[in-house]
Amino acid sequence: MGVTVRKLRNTPEDSEFAAKLLVEAFRGKFVHSITEAKLPIAVRNLSAFHVAQADDFRDRTFVAELDGSPVGVLGLKFHGDEDREYACLGMFTTGSAQRHTCYVDHICVDDRARGKGVGKVLMEKAEAEARCRQCKAMTLYVTTDNRARHLYERQGYSVIATESVCGCLGCCIGPPGSVYEMSKPL
Ligand SMILES: CC(C)(COP(=O)(O)OP(=O)(O)OC[C@H]1O[C@@H](n2cnc3c(N)ncnc32)[C@H](O)[C@@H]1OP(=O)(O)O)[C@@H](O)C(=O)NCCC(=O)NCCS
Repeated sequence: MGVTVRKLRNTPEDSEFAAKLLVEAFRGKFVHSITEAKLPIAVRNLSAFHVAQADDFRDRTFVAELDGSPVGVLGLKFHGDEDREYACLGMFTTGSAQRHTCYVDHICVDDRARGKGVGKVLMEKAEAEARCRQCKAMTLYVTTDNRARHLYERQGYSVIATESVCGCLGCCIGPPGSVYEMSKPL
């Protein structure tokens, strides 16, 4: 059956699946900002956040399935989405994405399913969605120590800037460090 991608469903199961996966995949950031003891609260809050979103949220949020089981989540942001919250993961773009640009807000795959091409399929889905909306470029941020950069480079992204993360933002998402801004023309 392989890898398939569908929209996030407005069901308790999907909402919880996405919440659990996000917290687990970005565990370090959550632990840093709210401590380990509060991870179950983060899952509950994120799950409730997913349930509360209007339907167009699910036009930008996707689930990857591997052999019929959900294993990955992708969240996109487009120009005009400035009022849209991204549950603490829209950490670098608090406002709208630039005009004609698709911002990959978050992508994650269950650690038991990594390295099997699921992330690649999700990145291809991101581009397909962006093209449908007449976007001319893809953009994302990745911390400089995250090997996910290799995946993005293979998909044709290149580093266009390196920024240090410090101050309030740094405290929220992890110890001070740096991020690459990566971009790909469509
Ligand atoms: C990044 C991620 C979505 C890739 O999904 P995937 O299904 O493993 O991706 P693919 O099998 O298509 O491609 C493999 C590539 O994924 C990336 N990857 C694999 N495991 C990873 C991990 N534990 N952490 C970060 N990136 C990883 C690497 O770039 C790898 O290529 P490499 O082996 O040459 O380094 C997934 O690893 C993940 O959820 N990581 C944790 C969350 C995260 O860091 N998300 C990106 C934030 S910018």
